[in-house]
Amino acid sequence: MSTRRHEGKTVLITGGARGIGRAYAERFAADGANVVVADMLEAEGRETVADLEKAGAKALFVSCDVTDEGQCNAMVEAAVKRFGRLDTAIANAGVGFHSSFLDYPEDRFDWVYDVNVKGAFLTGRAAARAMIAGGRGGAIINIASVNALLANENNAPYGAGKAAVVLLTKVMSVTLADHGIRVNAIAPGPTKTAMEAKVMADPVKLKMRTSRTPLRRLAETAEVAGVASFLASEDASFVTGQTIYVDGGRLALNYFMSEEPGGMAGKL
Ligand SMILES: NC(=O)c1ccc[n+]([C@@H]2O[C@H](COP(=O)([O-])OP(=O)(O)OC[C@H]3O[C@@H](n4cnc5c(N)ncnc54)[C@H](O)[C@@H]3O)[C@@H](O)[C@H]2O)c1
Repeated sequence: MSTRRHEGKTVLITGGARGIGRAYAERFAADGANVVVADMLEAEGRETVADLEKAGAKALFVSCDVTDEGQCNAMVEAAVKRFGRLDTAIANAGVGFHSSFLDYPEDRFDWVYDVNVKGAFLTGRAAARAMIAGGRGGAIINIASVNALLANENNAPYGAGKAAVVLLTKVMSVTLADHGIRVNAIAPGPTKTAMEAKVMADPVKLKMRTSRTPLRRLAETAEVAGVASFLASEDASFVTGQTIYVDGGRLALNYFMSEEPGGMAGKL
């Protein structure tokens, strides 16, 4: 889908080389924006940018590790230098590591928290400073997860960190409101990317997800990207501090879906 509603504006996406990040890049490009793809994956990031340019968009790749303050500041500087303005930043870069709580390795805990929480802080702070300097306001979108609310027993720092992202979003929204910067979060449910590749390849794991999802499927990346396009647009001009759960109804469901069409198993 394309609305051209971000024509001439600039969007920066961390973790934009692949997965949902690439879908944000494609959607904002189709909406008319200049797109900055920031990622540690050089080859995939450059390929994404080349594809966006082939489709007629103006795009830039910036190599960036979002856990590094200097690299985050340089990433935003590069975006403003190339396109003259920054209107939207999406702090999408994220990682997870599965291990039981009792054996969870400390260094993996630090890594997940650094990328998912500190990365959003460093990205958002650098973007907000540039937006304030530009004097036009802007929109910042952090990426949480349904795991901000639902416990995943094998990924403690992921859920705890995504819950922190929801609160960070509220802090940023109240702090930046007077600068005309709106800050919201998107919390996807299971979405078809490399992060869910093992699930998609395993019928048992896939059924665990779909039986807990009223829409009975994983999200397409474009379905998450459409919500980001809305949140960054004038249609969301009075929306700030919110987290939108793009989860196919998962958080609304108490038990699980029956195998037959028609609703929940174990109806009371
Ligand atoms: N796929 C899902 O089901 C799902 C569900 C809920 C939330 N999310 C969240 O959505 C976001 C994107 O997930 P995805 O499924 O597209 O994952 P993905 O693994 O396909 O993409 C993540 C991207 O982030 C980049 N990245 C990782 N560490 C980085 C760092 N230190 N600096 C810069 N870039 C870095 C990776 O190189 C990659 O391009 C993540 O924040 C994830 O937690 C995904």
